[in-house]
Amino acid sequence: QWPKSIEIVEVGPRDGLQNEQDLISTPDKIRLIQKLAESGVKRIEVTSFVSPKWVPQMADAAEVLAGIQLPDDVQQIALIPNEKGYERAKECGVNAIALVVGASSTFNQKNINMTTEESMQRLRPLVEQAKQDGMFVRAYVATTFGCPYENEVPLSKVLTMVEQFLAMGADEIDLADTIGIANPKQVFEVFTKAKAEFPQASFTAHFHDTRGMALANTLAAMQAGVTSFDTAIGGLGGCPFAKGAAGNGSTEDLVYMLESMGISTGLQIGKLYEAVDILLPLTKRQLMGHLYKVRDNG
Ligand code: HMG
Ligand code: MG
Repeated sequence: QWPKSIEIVEVGPRDGLQNEQDLISTPDKIRLIQKLAESGVKRIEVTSFVSPKWVPQMADAAEVLAGIQLPDDVQQIALIPNEKGYERAKECGVNAIALVVGASSTFNQKNINMTTEESMQRLRPLVEQAKQDGMFVRAYVATTFGCPYENEVPLSKVLTMVEQFLAMGADEIDLADTIGIANPKQVFEVFTKAKAEFPQASFTAHFHDTRGMALANTLAAMQAGVTSFDTAIGGLGGCPFAKGAAGNGSTEDLVYMLESMGISTGLQIGKLYEAVDILLPLTKRQLMGHLYKVRDNG
């Protein structure tokens, strides 16, 4: 049984651009985000308020937010790692934040410079404050399906974090395959279990396509009842602090697959190609998406 529609959250401007070595100008980022919004996507991770020493590419988060003008019904999400990030985001008028904690503590140390437990403890009052401030809170559990530094990430640890995030008041749980190591059977099992244990929770899946498994994993998550997915334009993306991480599943590839299955996404593929055209000259990397490469073949 397939769903009638699927929600896509565009994470390219955040997850994608954060991994670009050469600085991309603020106007170019704004142009890309504006074009993405033209595609009809209703949720975009536009930037992150992280340390500019750790991720210089995201240093212009405030300028990007000030420069974009999106329709009122497009949610603009900013990723934040800590209190300072939260204050910076709030000052910019952000009303949707994404938190990230690794289920693997080794990964979390490398990414946020805290253990998993330290992160969860520090985020509790932060989420409380965010809810008082009327923010929408999405919470990533990174390395849900595997970690480049720890051999195994127990599902019980992931589920405990889901429970803790929900208890804090998070509105959405995003289970992420940070390094693209998940397989469809595992994805089906993890989401089936998570949804059974937390039937009221909103789950999103975030797949990196390192090993070409993102679409297969998406289908497996759909079979488990997931209807919300993060993707990045062109298949851009990757976490600079996760060894071997590559791009996210590509937005236009997912739109093509779903629409050809008769499942509505609300996104126009032509506009996504226009966004790829903006992106291509900005990156030296080979984009991981498939579809834009054959777009002229009919
Ligand atoms: P730290 O060095 O431990 O920070 O880094 P600190 O608290 O000791 O502060 C050191 C300095 O940084 C201080 O400044 C702070 O003010 C400043 P100084 O006194 O030296 O001048 N600082 C900040 N400045 C701006 N914004 C902030 C901020 N916080 C502190 N928010 C920290 C800890 C969390 C800051 C750092 O580790 C960091 O920024 N990490 C973010 C790394 C990142 O962006 N990773 C990629 C995103 S996560 C991801 O991609 C995974 C995901 O896609 C899901 C998946 O695929 O799995 C979401
Ligand atoms: Mg990611």
